[in-house]
Amino acid sequence: MSENILIELKGLTKRYGYGDTETFALKDFDLTIKRGEFIMIMGPSGCGKTTLLDIIGLLDRATHGEYILGGENVAGISSRRQAKLRAKKIGFVFQNFNLIEDLPIIENVALPLVYTGYTKTSRLKQASRALGRFHLQEREYYYPYQLSGGQQQRVAIARAIVGSPEIILADEPTGNLDSRSSHIVMEELKSIHEEGNTIIMVTHNPSLTTYATRVINMLDGQIDTDIKTVADSNLPQPVSVKIKKRKKKSTPAIELPAKKSKKRQKSRRKK
Ligand SMILES: Nc1ncnc2c1ncn2[C@@H]1O[C@H](COP(=O)(O)OP(=O)(O)OP(=O)(O)O)[C@@H](O)[C@H]1O
Ligand SMILES: [Mg+2]
Repeated sequence: MSENILIELKGLTKRYGYGDTETFALKDFDLTIKRGEFIMIMGPSGCGKTTLLDIIGLLDRATHGEYILGGENVAGISSRRQAKLRAKKIGFVFQNFNLIEDLPIIENVALPLVYTGYTKTSRLKQASRALGRFHLQEREYYYPYQLSGGQQQRVAIARAIVGSPEIILADEPTGNLDSRSSHIVMEELKSIHEEGNTIIMVTHNPSLTTYATRVINMLDGQIDTDIKTVADSNLPQPVSVKIKKRKKKSTPAIELPAKKSKKRQKSRRKK
């Protein structure tokens, strides 16, 4: 069973400031996340949602507590190791898209692949394929300002998944979008989830919780309510998520659950 546990947070505390300015963004926070969950995190402004996502995404560290990611305690590891793990396992989507304005979108999408050892040509090919998935291939040499908000967020999602991470973290990804674009973005996240990826998303919009398998409400740095709407046994299993074909000689930059499961299926068939 435990192999299905992807993330364990135990007694996480994040404190900012000291004395009069002391604030606890997270207080003794415990959370276990299984592979294949689509978690929506809600709660009032300032309750610690972004802090939580930043710590899970290895962009920030807790003041105390344990963070176990894929069986490895990552709370105390070096920044370098954190950056490596982040590149391999985690894709981010932000409210403001966070695209680099003076790079064409194909280069924006290729950015997470910079440290993977692929050649630039290969990185651009993979980015192009990722953009194709979101129907933006024809615009790959456009600059972000030439796209609508919804299109920019789809570019950001393409960038988040280009390295085939198993975790997607999204901080109010529809916060700056109209309802039609929000819907398109949510459908994209849904299909990424159905392929077996784990998604943790912060939102202020209760109507989006229909996409989630679990809804967590936070209050003052702690969990207020935690409701699973889909049984663990019904969570999607990793299938072929992957948008890129890998040449045999390249070292995979990430874990490939899809390949593993195919192998397992084959060996089962042989038996
Ligand atoms: N760099 C920082 N320095 C000091 N306090 C901070 C810092 N970052 C966050 N905080 C505080 O930590 C608390 C949690 O902030 P966080 O950004 O996680 O909230 P949030 O739930 O994401 O809010 P919102 O819905 O407005 O985005 C807040 O009280 C905030 O003021
Ligand atoms: Mg926030």
